[in-house]
Amino acid sequence: MIVLAAGQGKRMMSNLPKVAYPLAGRALISWVLEAVRPLEPASTVVVIGHGADRVRSVLADDVVVAVQEEQLGTGHATQVGLEAIPSIDPGDTIVVLYGDMPLLTHDLIADLADLSSGADARMVTTDLDDPSGYGRVVRDAAGQVVGIVEDRDCTAKQRLITEINAGVYAFRAGHLEESLQEVSNDNAQGEYYLTDVAGILVGKGDRLEAVMASAQEVMGINSQDQLAEARKALQQRTNSRLMESGVWMQDPDRTYVDDTVHVEPGARLYSGVHLEGSTSVAADAQIGPDVFAVDSSIGRGSTVWYSVLRSASIGEHCEVGPYASLRPGSVLEDGAKAGTFVETKNTTLGKGAKAPHLAYLGDATIGARSNIGAGTITCNYDGDGKYPTEIGEDVFIGSDTMLVAPVKIGDKAVTGAGSVITEDVSEGALAIERSEQIEIPGYADHREARKAATEPED
Ligand code: UD1
Ligand code: CA
Repeated sequence: MIVLAAGQGKRMMSNLPKVAYPLAGRALISWVLEAVRPLEPASTVVVIGHGADRVRSVLADDVVVAVQEEQLGTGHATQVGLEAIPSIDPGDTIVVLYGDMPLLTHDLIADLADLSSGADARMVTTDLDDPSGYGRVVRDAAGQVVGIVEDRDCTAKQRLITEINAGVYAFRAGHLEESLQEVSNDNAQGEYYLTDVAGILVGKGDRLEAVMASAQEVMGINSQDQLAEARKALQQRTNSRLMESGVWMQDPDRTYVDDTVHVEPGARLYSGVHLEGSTSVAADAQIGPDVFAVDSSIGRGSTVWYSVLRSASIGEHCEVGPYASLRPGSVLEDGAKAGTFVETKNTTLGKGAKAPHLAYLGDATIGARSNIGAGTITCNYDGDGKYPTEIGEDVFIGSDTMLVAPVKIGDKAVTGAGSVITEDVSEGALAIERSEQIEIPGYADHREARKAATEPED
C-alpha cells in the first residue's frame, strides 16, 4: 500500500501541508490510513515531502514513511514509495492512493484491491457534473479503459468526458515497476504522472478495469472549501451512526462529534454541542445546548449545558452550567454541581458537593456534601507558585469567602460571608474575618446639609 502525500496543496492557500489539516478529530491523512487499516496490508508506506516534519508529526509512530525530496509528480512519488517497501514479489498487489481523500471507505478499497477477477489492474472512477481539473478516463469503442488524460493535457473533445480518475489504483507490482520506467514528464505540468501508467499498461496488453464509486466517497481535498464540505460529510456519517445506535439529537446539523468520541445509546445531545478527542458521554446524560467538551468524560444521568469542559471528569448525576468552565484536572464526583459562572481547574468536588454560583476553584479538593457559597475564590496563586486548598466534608463556605492557599478547612466547618481566610480552620468551627459593622444614625440628613453648604450660589 502506497499513500501519496508529498504535495503542498497549493490551492489551500496556507503553509500547513494539506494532509496535516485537522478534520473532525483526525488529521486529513489519518482518515485515509484509518480506512485502509482493516485491510491489514503487508506494508503501508506514506510518501511525504512538502512539510515533511509537520506531516510526520500527525502520523502514528508505526507508519513507514518515504521522503520524496522534490515533488516531481505522482508517478515519481509512487516510485519513491515502491523503493521503501522491504520486499516485493512481481505478483504482489500494490494499492496506490492519494492522501487527500478523507471520505474513502474500507469497503471500496477492499473491493478495488481484489485482482482475482482477472483484471491486471484496477482503478476507481466517478462521474462528475463538473469534471474540470481532474484526469479524464478514456475508453475505446468497446467501453474498455485505454488511458487517463490530465485536464491540462486534454483535447477539447476529451475535456467533455465526465468520468474522472479518482486517484485510487490496484496494480501488479511487476507491471507497475516496468511501466513507471516508461513514464516521461513531457506534459503540460512537466511532471511524471502516475496516470500515464494506465495507458502504458493497456498498451502492453493488460486489462485495466474501472470500479465506479460515488463522487462524495472519492472526493479529494484541494481547497478550504472542499475541506469544509468533507467535514460536513464526516459529521453526517458520525451523527447517523450515533442516532442509529440510539443517541438522541435535537439537530444533527448543529451537533459536532469527533469520530474518536464515544456516546452511549440513550444520551441526549441538544444543538450546538461539540465533543472532541477522547470525550465520552454515558447513557441518560443530557449535553447542551451549546457545550464544548474535549478529552472529558460525562457520567450517566448528568446534565451539562452552555459550558466548556477540557480534560474534565464528570461522574453520575452531576450538574454543570449554565456557563461553567471546567479546566484540566477538574473532577466532579457523583451528584456534584458546578453551576452558573463557576470555573474550576485541577479541582475535585466530592460526592454531592456543590458550587452553585460564581466561583473560582483552583488546586482544590472539596469533600463530600460541602457547599461553596457564591463569590468564593481559592486564591491559589501568589504570583510565583500555586498552592492547594483542602476543604473537608459537610463544610459550608459562606458567600464571597477568599481562601488564601495553602489552607485547610476541617470537616463541618463554616466560614462567614465575606471572610478572607488565611489560617487553617478546625473541624466544626466557624471562621469569620471581617471588620465590625458600624452605624451612623441620621447620615442621610447630614449629607444633604453638607452638600447644600458647599454648593456655589448663582
Ligand atoms: C490527481 C490525478 C488526476 C485525478 C486527481 C483526483 C495525477 C497526475 N493526476 O490530480 O488524474 O483526477 O488526482 O483527485 O496523478 N503528490 C506527491 N508527490 C508529487 C505530486 C503529488 O506525493 O510529486 C501527492 C499529493 O500530495 C496528493 C496526491 O499526490 O496527495 C495527488 O496530487 P495532486 O496534486 O492533488 O493531483 P491532482 O492534480 O489533484
Ligand atoms: Ca488532488
